Amino acid sequence: MDRNSLSDRNVAGVIGMLSDSSAAEFIYSQAKKMMWSVVEYKEIQMLYTCAIKEIKTKLDILDTEFKVRYKRNPISSISSRLKRTESVIEKLHRRGYPFTIESIEHNINDIAGVRVICSYVDDVYAIADALLAQDDIKLLSRKDYIHNPKDNGYRSLHLIVTVPVFLSESRKEVKVEVQIRTIAMDYWASLEHQMKYKKDIPDAERVSRQLREVAEDMARTDRRMLELRRDIELAEDAVSEDDELFDRLGRIGMPL
Ligand code: GTP
Ligand code: MG
Repeated sequence: MDRNSLSDRNVAGVIGMLSDSSAAEFIYSQAKKMMWSVVEYKEIQMLYTCAIKEIKTKLDILDTEFKVRYKRNPISSISSRLKRTESVIEKLHRRGYPFTIESIEHNINDIAGVRVICSYVDDVYAIADALLAQDDIKLLSRKDYIHNPKDNGYRSLHLIVTVPVFLSESRKEVKVEVQIRTIAMDYWASLEHQMKYKKDIPDAERVSRQLREVAEDMARTDRRMLELRRDIELAEDAVSEDDELFDRLGRIGMPL
């Protein structure tokens, strides 16, 4: 009999058919199996936590490089989260996948999530390109909701990547979902997210329509801000090589 496929009902049936000592042995073996699953689950949580650290370090390094070489930081902020266990269970259940470690690793791409907030739209793509150009990063999927916004107005660039995590005795490729968007897109998404969890919004249709309109307004503002920044940068480009050198020297003392 395949003990892994036992349901609660036939476990009770099997125990009923066994002698006392073999029933105790059976229960103990099932309990051990469960405890091993808990240990394994904790181990993969550790792996995903390390993968988040790897990705955040890569992003931090890119941001530091930009700060020293150019005059601005492309990244406004970075946040991350490990998917909560109840959300993992809910997602597996909703999609009809088994609750096993292999199934979690194979079917769920957003156990590790990193969100990068940029000031300008071109920074979103610059950061994505620079991350994906690294030879230890493998791209599994890319969804560009900036060029193709969702019907509700949602905009963001989503990447599912793998990053190697080096442990004491092995190297593991671990999946991370990276969401990159502008401050304006993030501002919008947090309000829209709040709405998803409110069931009784009066006049929900009007709120959805207005959210779509605001998303358009924000996209327009993002485009105008980028144009203005570029105009300002063009004006600054008239500086001489000496000006550039002294400017870079002036920034040498800044904390990294
Ligand atoms: P899940 O939604 O996580 O099951 O993944 P998916 O396969 O549909 O992938 P997708 O790339 O579309 O969305 C991944 C994540 O992006 C979500 O978990 C949210 O965090 C975010 N997201 C996607 N769509 C929306 C949206 O319409 N509004 C907001 N606020 N966030 C969204
Ligand atoms: Mg998700």
